[in-house]
Amino acid sequence: MRRSRRRARSASSPPTATQRAALEPALCFVDLASEWRAGRLPLRQLLRRRADRLRALPSRERRQVEELLFAYARWRDRVDTLVEWALQELPVDWPRPTPRQRLRLACSLVGRLAQLPTAALDPVETAAIAHALQREGTASDPIAALVQRHGFERAIVEEWHAALGPGEIEGALAAFDRRPLFHLRPRWPATAATVIAELAADGIAAEPHPVVPQAVVVTRPIRLDRHPLLTERRASVQDAASQLALQALAVEPGQTVVDCCAGGGGKAEAIADLLRGRGRLALFDRDRRRLAAARARLAAAAGPGLRLSAEVRDGRIPPPPDERGRADRVLVDAPCSGLGTAHRQPDLKWRYRDRDIARFTADQVQLATQAALLLAPGGRLLYATCSLRRAENDDVADALLRRTGLSPLPLHAVLGALADRLGANGERLTLWPHRHRCDGFFLALFERR
Ligand SMILES: C[S@@+](CC[C@H](N)C(=O)[O-])C[C@H]1O[C@@H](n2cnc3c(N)ncnc32)[C@H](O)[C@@H]1O
Repeated sequence: MRRSRRRARSASSPPTATQRAALEPALCFVDLASEWRAGRLPLRQLLRRRADRLRALPSRERRQVEELLFAYARWRDRVDTLVEWALQELPVDWPRPTPRQRLRLACSLVGRLAQLPTAALDPVETAAIAHALQREGTASDPIAALVQRHGFERAIVEEWHAALGPGEIEGALAAFDRRPLFHLRPRWPATAATVIAELAADGIAAEPHPVVPQAVVVTRPIRLDRHPLLTERRASVQDAASQLALQALAVEPGQTVVDCCAGGGGKAEAIADLLRGRGRLALFDRDRRRLAAARARLAAAAGPGLRLSAEVRDGRIPPPPDERGRADRVLVDAPCSGLGTAHRQPDLKWRYRDRDIARFTADQVQLATQAALLLAPGGRLLYATCSLRRAENDDVADALLRRTGLSPLPLHAVLGALADRLGANGERLTLWPHRHRCDGFFLALFERR
């Protein structure tokens, strides 16, 4: 008891200037984590908004704080529970923790979970954390243990457990616990080989993607936005899953293509590249700001041979009669929960709960059903999401087959043996980070006969 009283005093005495400098990353973590917990902004946006706070740190520590925050966002409920358990381990006369002190413990815990360095805690607190971690190993049933370890909702873990089986589920969930590497899309006439060679000349290691060979994986987490490859438009940042989706859409020069949810124009830019300056590309999106970004991004692609248009439009509303039956290719890259990108944006786990999914499904069915009206005979529609929920994927594809008169177009017909290797199920393919080394993604291909 005497020992714990002495520790209780030392834990509350103010740190010296040198100690404070050593604690600075943890303090920065506590500030930003408490803002994030207040819930007003997604983590990425918060980091952009509070760049000044981070810039005050040396670059290594800045990266460390960012990593700690991403890890906290990934395991929020797990960490909160562990902190509660750790607090129960502290001596009875330990100072009552304030919310900021809880976050200081959370910082240390996250560091342990993500194997990142953090400021040392008082030995009594360190021991309490070790006890809490031991207690975690004793969850009652296997699904509860997975929920606890990986922070996905029980309904999601159950659904994925049923889809993947007991041998694969842990690996699937764990793949979301690591921040992924980013991928580049070589822009014609560049190829994966030329992009890799150009990066190698600058000492940047890169390799062909193991599943989508035209995509390039940059094997270290570095910033490339000012590299000439990107500024001179020989490559764009695009996940291999999206690159594969465009391969499946198989756009040919001269075609008429509609991108119904063009967003900032990531896939639209790839479509424009495939059109090789000939044909027609129409971009729609409900969001004026995003559509303006897409238009600006694609401005260089338009020319006498390629007619480019962009229109703010709610795709759930039926298209005007004169637009129907004209498109060779239609892309519905639908708004979704984005859960397949939870490794990049971990707060998605907490933003869209199971009960929110039905709202997405209703819009997705409506958007894709109206988009189908745009297709010319022989035309193809690709429905895609970066979700891994059945309700946003297979259920929507089933509804499309029931409602639109479209026929399924087996992916094998377009991708050949690659479709089989990736595990396509007829016209549908689900890409998993742990299997395919890309974002979680769903695509389904249809044609109008
Ligand atoms: C997955 S994002 C598209 C990303 C984009 N295709 C890209 O590759 O950059 C989905 C887009 O759908 C748009 N959206 C949501 N509801 C819509 C609606 N009812 N009609 C049209 N667009 C909608 C959102 O604004 C968002 O930009």
